Amino acid sequence: MWLLLAGFVLLVCAADATPIGGRTVPDFGKMYHVKGELSLPYSDLKEPIEAWYDLDGNRSRIDYYNGTVQTFLIGNDLEYGAIYKITPVTTTTEIQAIKCFQLKGTQEDPIRPQAALPDLQGFEFEKMENHTGILCEVWKKDTQVGHKKNTYRLWVARPEGIDSLATPHHFEMMSFNTLLESQNDKYTIDYSDFSPQTEPDIFTPPGGMTCGEFPDPVEEHQILANPIQDYVNTSPVSHAHRLFGPFKEKFHRLYKNEKEHEERENYFIHTQRFVHSKNRAGLTYSVGINNFADWSKAELARMTGSLRIPKQE
Ligand SMILES: *[C@@H]1O[C@H](CO)[C@@H](O)[C@H](O)[C@H]1NC(C)=O
Ligand SMILES: *[C@@H]1O[C@H](CO)[C@@H](O)[C@H](O)[C@H]1NC(C)=O
Ligand SMILES: *[C@@H]1O[C@H](CO)[C@@H](O)[C@H](O)[C@H]1NC(C)=O
Repeated sequence: MWLLLAGFVLLVCAADATPIGGRTVPDFGKMYHVKGELSLPYSDLKEPIEAWYDLDGNRSRIDYYNGTVQTFLIGNDLEYGAIYKITPVTTTTEIQAIKCFQLKGTQEDPIRPQAALPDLQGFEFEKMENHTGILCEVWKKDTQVGHKKNTYRLWVARPEGIDSLATPHHFEMMSFNTLLESQNDKYTIDYSDFSPQTEPDIFTPPGGMTCGEFPDPVEEHQILANPIQDYVNTSPVSHAHRLFGPFKEKFHRLYKNEKEHEERENYFIHTQRFVHSKNRAGLTYSVGINNFADWSKAELARMTGSLRIPKQE
């Protein structure tokens, strides 16, 4: 994943000189502010985000649910950079207490600024399309790993002509599973308020807080510390996918065949996203990954309980 980010850095530097079919790959610049709305249609969830990106300053910030949760990625902090997450936490003794968590970069995985827009390396121009009344270029990338065929599309406008700064409007991921012969995943981000400026003080986490480590399991740290990464990366194997192995082990899962395995993995990914998004919303209860994480909606509906399990601490 850090290799992909390194690729993004290279792309940004080289983008001006990369015409594809007479069109230059859109360049969003080294510094920007943008708002977005992440939609997860399988979970019927919409999550507002706001992002600030400063490549030369080696830092970024992304807020979730109108600032309920704030994440700061600071490359030039400590030895290999650090991520700070400021979030309300509800336990049996405290309701929505604001806490700070810290994830330190390492030599292998140094912390780099997180883009809120997809890395357009490998994308190709597909067509022009009028998106919500704005004429946009549509850039597209296909990936396939195993039975999962993912298609990513980004709608981009260039209001002042081909050489002007690109403005992102809409991002869509669609996944088709060739074994299940069905669409098994989709999410979108609607972008707005794009501007090539940020204010320097926006990148400073609030002072005077003691920052603890993220709770276990360690495989979940990246998702908790940097939630947008799994959505804007075009790598078909996300951090959420990597949690499926440990889940199967913990709950002793043995599926009857490959088809069931694909289905269960799919339900697990949707549950993961639902749980993490709900927890970012700063609710007074917290939602956990449990024994039912690989169940379908229909299976869950048969139980009277839902995924809302009060946190026991
Ligand atoms: C975030 O702000 C928008 C616009 O002010 C509002 O419609 C929405 O309900 C807010 N969402 C949350 C989770 O506070
Ligand atoms: C950004 O921070 C990371 C992590 O500390 C570091 O490895 C990298 O060299 C820094 N990049 C720049 C351009 O300063
Ligand atoms: C795009 O759609 C809007 C609304 O339907 C329309 O007013 C506008 O003329 C269209 N623009 C182009 C370039 O087709």
